[in-house]
This record gives sequence, C-alpha cells and structure tokens, in this order.
Amino acid sequence: MLEVIEQLEAAALAQLATTTDADSLETWRIAYLGPSGKLKASMMGLKDVPKDQKPAVGARLNTAKTIIEEAYAARKAAAPAAKAVSELIDVTEPGVVSQSGLGRRHVITRVREELVEVFARMGFDVVEGPELEDESHNFIQLNIPAEHPARDPLDNFYVDDPATSTSPRMMRSQTSTVQVRIMEEAVKRGGGTLREPIRIVAPGRVYRPDEVDATHSFMFHQIEGLYVDKRVTMVDLKSTLLNFARAYFGPDAQVRLRPSFFPFTEPSAEVDMKIRLRPDQPVRWMELGGCGMVDPAVFTACGVDPEEWTGFAFGFGIERLAMGKYGIPDIRLLFENDIRFLSQL
Ligand code: DAH
Repeated sequence: MLEVIEQLEAAALAQLATTTDADSLETWRIAYLGPSGKLKASMMGLKDVPKDQKPAVGARLNTAKTIIEEAYAARKAAAPAAKAVSELIDVTEPGVVSQSGLGRRHVITRVREELVEVFARMGFDVVEGPELEDESHNFIQLNIPAEHPARDPLDNFYVDDPATSTSPRMMRSQTSTVQVRIMEEAVKRGGGTLREPIRIVAPGRVYRPDEVDATHSFMFHQIEGLYVDKRVTMVDLKSTLLNFARAYFGPDAQVRLRPSFFPFTEPSAEVDMKIRLRPDQPVRWMELGGCGMVDPAVFTACGVDPEEWTGFAFGFGIERLAMGKYGIPDIRLLFENDIRFLSQL
C-alpha cells in the first residue's frame, strides 16, 4: 500500500507539471483532488489495510495529500501570471490607434524648411546666428547710426541698460546681424581679408516690442540672404529673387522691386512678389521684405574690401509668407497654438 501511495504522489506531481492552462489544471484537479478522485479513492482503501499497518499508511497518505494540495495551489497561483506574460509579448496583435493622433511640425517650421530648401538648391548655405546680440552686430556694423529711429531703446528689447552699459546686450531686432557675423568669420578665416565668395541664408527669430495685433507680434521670424562675390549687380539680385519666387510659389510668380531705403544697402528696395496663393484665387502682389546691394560702409565695418568685393542682401518675413500661403488672417493664431487651428494646416 505504501508503494501505491508513493506512485500516486509521483504521478500526480508529474501530470500537474504538464498542465498548461486553467482548463487542463481543472481536469487534473478533478482527477486527483475531486470527490471521486484518486486521492479520495486511496483514503477509502485505508479501511482494507491490515490494522497493524494502518497508522503508517494513514500518515503516509496524509503527507501525500498535503504535498499534492500544496503543489496544486502553487501551480494555480502561477498559471494566470504566465498567461498574462504570454499575452504581453504577442507581437502579432494589431497595434492600438493613438487617441491624440499623429502630430506634425508647426507651420512656421515647415515654411522655414521649405524656404531654406529652395535657397539650398540655388547654392546658398544655411547658417544661424545668436538671438542675444550686441549693438555692434545689430546696428553699428550695419551702418545704422546712433540717431536712427530703429535704435530707440523703446523700440528694442535691451537686456542691459543702454544708458549705463558700455556694451549693452539686446535681443536681435533683425536677422541682418548674421550678415555681419558671417563676413567677420570669413575674414578671420582668411587671415584678415576675405578670400572667397559668401552665399548664405540665415533663418531665425527676431524681437521687437511691438503692440500685438493681427499683423504684429513681439517675436517673429525672418530669413536673411547674403551673396558676396566679384562684380555682383542688381541683375543678380533680381534674378535670384525671381528664381526663388518661381521655385517657391510656382512658375507664374513675378517679382517687383520698389525703391526704398535701408542703412545697410545702397541702393535699397522693397520686394513684392506677384503670386497665386491658391488655385481658386487671382494672382496678387504681396510685400515680402527688403533687399539691396551691400553698402560699402558695411563691408568696411566687417573687414571686407569694398573696392574688391560687391554683394546683395535681402530679408523676408517668414510669418508673412506662411500667412499668405495658407490664408491665415491673424498672426496671433500662429503662436497661440490652438490644436484645432494647427490641425487644419
Ligand atoms: N533687416 C530689414 C528689416 O528687418 C530687412 C532687410 C532689408 C534685410 C533689406 C536686408 C536688406 O538684408 O537688404 O526690416
């Protein structure tokens, strides 16, 4: 009888180990621990055991019962966890669709990248300059004299007090600062003189303490262009702008230069482009920014010999381009970042 109990215990544990899920575990439970299961049957058989063997057989039976019941409890506890893990790593399950949807880059970022790409195809390198500047790069080397209205402290974000600081820092009010920085760097590389042509565009943020309304913001974006080479003329400037307009707005875009004044270019002009913003709209003139031939005074201030080098420069407002292209009526919409607005673009 002791041998039979031994075998029963061994068989029960061996079969228990082969159960793989709740169903096979339950089948096992009924077979061994159920009311008409094998353990119960052995208990019933105890009455036929000779009297003198009863205590030993009874004790062995109880031990077997405890061992089998504990093994069952442990298996049952482990089973659900094993199941959860196998579900977790089911790589064939379809993915969960995001509730918030896939995001995208802001429209200003996209327009900026489109502009840069068009100019890159025309051979312009892309560079960036700091947003925290000094008066030398923002004004002085750009030939903007102390009495010029653009230098009024009330029209600029000064970080240091211009009345007391010898070299006050300010948030740049235009990306033209990058013209100065790029020419200075090139002259430094050349050991004190410019040795090679410069062809760059510089996109970035600029800051002015303007009253915020539908067309003004205290922060906006510009893209600056600078081309310095031998014998550059206005024809190069206008054809570059025309090529840009056609590449960016389409083959029927036109460019118009209106005489104007900027301290850092001579002559200077406002740039208008005649563009069809949408297929369902008529073409119309849109003012994009300023341009001109680099003033010799700027070349000199940057260490470039104006007798040897010539160049043109331009600066466009990126918000203006974005608003025109997407028919956005109010600049504030671009910075409030209401998801209902942004998701339409
Ligand atoms: N910096 C000028 C502005 O902020 C725009 C500009 C005009 C840039 C003429 C130029 C330029 O490079 O040649 O209003």
